[in-house]
Amino acid sequence: MKKVVGFGYHKTNAVYMRRFKNGKWESGKLVKEDQFSISVMAPALHYGQQCFEGLKAYLRKDGKVNLFRISDNARRFQSSCERLLMPQLPVEDFIEGVKATVLENKDFLPPYGTEGTLYIRPLMIGVGPKLGLGAADEFLFIVIVSPVGAYIGDPKPIKVVTSEYDRAAPFGTGDVKVGGNYAGSVFALEIAKKEGFQDVLFLDPKTHTKIEEVGAANFYGITFDNKYLTPKSPSILNSITNRALKTLAKDKLGLEVIEGDIYIDKMEHIKEAAACGTALLITPIGSITHLGKTFTFTDHEKIGPYSQQLKELLTGIQFGSIADPYGWITTIN
Ligand code: PLP
Ligand code: COI
Repeated sequence: MKKVVGFGYHKTNAVYMRRFKNGKWESGKLVKEDQFSISVMAPALHYGQQCFEGLKAYLRKDGKVNLFRISDNARRFQSSCERLLMPQLPVEDFIEGVKATVLENKDFLPPYGTEGTLYIRPLMIGVGPKLGLGAADEFLFIVIVSPVGAYIGDPKPIKVVTSEYDRAAPFGTGDVKVGGNYAGSVFALEIAKKEGFQDVLFLDPKTHTKIEEVGAANFYGITFDNKYLTPKSPSILNSITNRALKTLAKDKLGLEVIEGDIYIDKMEHIKEAAACGTALLITPIGSITHLGKTFTFTDHEKIGPYSQQLKELLTGIQFGSIADPYGWITTIN
């Protein structure tokens, strides 16, 4: 596989499919086609009974393949399924499906040293037909992979803008990874892009005074007194990347980690900021525009020094060039 540029879909050798029918899971299988048919009355199509995950496989220098914190993705997938009345796939079964799909598509892993990865997209959809509002009685668990490069090609810090719209309600589904959150957020993203920003920054849905998260990533800031600051809210997705960064910031960089409120009109104590997630990795944020006023962080020309160190540590562990003391890595070949 050659170097991959951008975050796009490339069809691979196989997709993994496993059906839940008559109250139990059938066995999973790898299929060549990336298309299938379902009932026109599948609740996934009408009522958004759907959830997904995002993780990556990393080709190591020795040709083996690393998966990062896969059990955490499996557990978050269970929470999303539970919230949308879908069957909870056992953690081992999630891992088995992902491993089988990655190994079948090993040829699609971008080469070591290019920063490219194989993006893994597990999802579940409610497919048993239903017209009245309610859960399906039949479900499909699917794993798709695609080779990807950087989500945002330009390494320069991005400019983001807040939105009058929310991606999630205060006690809605913001803390789980369901398609509906994204369906409701792309309109705000489109507006942001039309106005010349690279991404949208959502505020807390209750008061619109605090930073919540980016449409597809968590937010963190590094303060002038060297604290790793990241918002805490019931409507934020608990990012697995952010969890790892909190650990690395504390253990390896000696930063105090604070999870709490970051008010949109009080950011003077923050010197560098970033969006973090599987797809966006660590994407530095240079400025935030809110209600027509722009706040520019000190580190706005290039990635800040702490974010750079965090990125090197995280990707070093993910690609296997730095030893993993945390048990985050599963190596397969
Ligand atoms: N927040 C949102 C809304 C996301 O879509 C994602 C991407 O998965 C994240 C945060 C980052 O989560 P993770 O680091 O687990 O990929
Ligand atoms: C991920 O980081 O895995 C995501 O889910 C991002 C995606 C919505 C583009």
